This record gives sequence, structure tokens and C-alpha cells, in this order.
Amino acid sequence: MLIDTYGRVATDLRVSLTDRCNLRCTYCMPEEGLQWLAKPDLLTDDEIVRLIRIAVTQLGITEVRFTGGEPLLRPGLVGIVERCAALEPRPKMSLTTNGIGLKRTAQALKAAGLDRVNVSLDTLRPDVFKTLTRRDRHHDVLDGMAAAREAGLTPVKVNSVLMPGLNADESPDLLAWAVENDYELRFIEQMPLDAQHGWKRDGMITAGDILASLRTRFTLTEEGQEERGSAPAERWIVDGGPHTVGVIASVTRPFCAACDRTRLTADGQVRTCLFATEETDLRAALRSDGEDGSDETIARIWKQAMWGKKAGSGLDDPSFLQPARPMSAIGG
Ligand code: 5AD
Ligand code: SF4
Repeated sequence: MLIDTYGRVATDLRVSLTDRCNLRCTYCMPEEGLQWLAKPDLLTDDEIVRLIRIAVTQLGITEVRFTGGEPLLRPGLVGIVERCAALEPRPKMSLTTNGIGLKRTAQALKAAGLDRVNVSLDTLRPDVFKTLTRRDRHHDVLDGMAAAREAGLTPVKVNSVLMPGLNADESPDLLAWAVENDYELRFIEQMPLDAQHGWKRDGMITAGDILASLRTRFTLTEEGQEERGSAPAERWIVDGGPHTVGVIASVTRPFCAACDRTRLTADGQVRTCLFATEETDLRAALRSDGEDGSDETIARIWKQAMWGKKAGSGLDDPSFLQPARPMSAIGG
């Protein structure tokens, strides 16, 4: 098992397949992009599948989420999903994507064994999308989401980040649209994980703001703690159901005490938290011969890393420092 000193057990593995992206969301990346990881530093498809196999067969991981950057940019994605679906016990598998390219790949992903997708969409207005992501691809995202729903990659969850002055007034429209299209909407509070270090607590839209805004148009009833479990989203039933809306309030209502996640970067580093400032290298072991590179050694290093997991994100600590690795190179 992957267990830490606070008794939390990780069963959910987030795997970043690439740090590259075809959008440039302002809360994530600068216009010119970033210095991407070098090819030889990236794990190969075989290495990724091997680590997931170790996690599933020896470390108690039951859910695997593929993320990025943008994971659809990874050429081997369908093959990786297929090989993971053949593992015993078979993990649940989902994908966090910006939706571009999903129209083309949704069927193949479903056939390979993917269970669900989370698509990022912050606005219903094409012009605002262009300002927010610096790319004119709104239509491709909507098409991708519909394709995922048709392929049965359901429930299709939608992640929205609200930015002051851009889309902050859109939450009720987004919810009405999600309910109508049978998507499960969740708002994510903006976190200090942008490469440009532009996050300011003062400016951010909080869970409180979002709920107040939604309640101008909808009746929201809070779902019980039992249903929530270790899910980062708090959920509300919309107008008596069956649809729900979630809020992931990482900043104003942290849920670290119930965290069940461990993360793997595209270059083979274990991170115990989005906000961790330390990482543990698995790639060196993966590329070693003999005992140093055995499944047992890798499992032991991973368990040791988990044992060092901090109690929380440290966001409220005056000495909080943003991690060196931006969100796009960690994965959501
Ligand atoms: N704060 C909150 N959410 C973010 N995402 C990317 N960067 C940030 C940030 N700084 C979101 C994306 C995507 C998910 C993986 O995380 O919009 O939906
Ligand atoms: Fe790409 Fe996601 Fe970052 Fe937007 S938030 S630039 S879609 S990695």
C-alpha cells in the first residue's frame, strides 16, 4: 500500500503523459509556451505501462487518470490505455483533456478501455475562449465533448476555472448549458500553479463567490459528506436533481486530509501533492539493471516517497512557496 504518516492511503494515480499543450490558457502558461521536457527525459510508453503495472499490482492503485499538459498530444495514448486495461486487477481509467482532438479519438479510447473523460472548458463564448486560451478552438472543444458523450465516455465532466473580468459572470450560463447537455460541471478555484507566477489571492474567484452567483438562478442542495469520500469536489444537487454541480475549492476549503492521490510526471518523478516542492525520481531506477531496477526496488522507492507526503498544501502558510514545476508539467 501507499500510505503516509497521517494514515492516508493513495489509491488514485495521476499520470502526466506530456508537458506540452496546444492551448495557452492565461492561468497556466505564457503566450510563448514553456521550455518543454527533452525527449530522452520523457518516459517511454513501455516505462509508463510498467510503472502503472507496479502501482496497480503491488501498491494498491485502483484508479488511473491520464493528464498532461494535453494527453491527447501523446502519440501512444491509445496503446497505453489498452495495455493498462489488460492489467489485473483492471484499474478504472479516465483522462483530463482540453477536448481538442477528442472528436477524432473518443471512439478509439473507449474501445481501448478508457472509462471517462474530464474536459476543460471555461466559457461558452468563442471570443472569450480565444482571449482565455489564446487559440480560436472553442468549436473543436464542444465537438470533442459531444463525441466523448456519444462514445460513452460518461459521465463527461467539465472543469471550469473562472477568471475576473473574463468569464467570472458566466457560472449560471455554464451550469444551465451543462444540465441541458448532460455534462457534469465542476468549478475549480484558480491555484498558484501558473508558470508565470501571476496568481493573487485577492483577485481570485472563490467557491463562495461561485455559489452565490449560481444561487441567483438555481436552487442548490448540498450533497452529504458520505457521497463525497475523497473527491476534491463538493457537490450540490441542482433544482432538486438529478444533475449536480461541483466546486473544487483547493484554496478556500482545502480537502488535503482526505487526499488519496499520488502523481507521476512525464519524466518519471513521483509527486505526493500538486504543491509539493520535492519529487522522487523513479526514472533512474527504471533505467537501472538488476536489483536496482527491479519492480520491488521501484515499489519501495514509491512507498518511501508517499511516507514523506506533507499534511497539506501549505497554501495558508506565510512561508508558502509555489512549486518550481507548473501545473502543465504536473497534471490535474
Ligand atoms: N488553477 C486551477 N485550475 C487550473 N487548471 C490549470 N491550471 C490551473 C490553475 N492554476 C485546470 C485546467 C484543467 C485542470 C487540469 O486544471 O483548466 O481543467
Ligand atoms: Fe493547456 Fe490545460 Fe494549461 Fe490550458 S490549462 S494551457 S489546456 S495544460
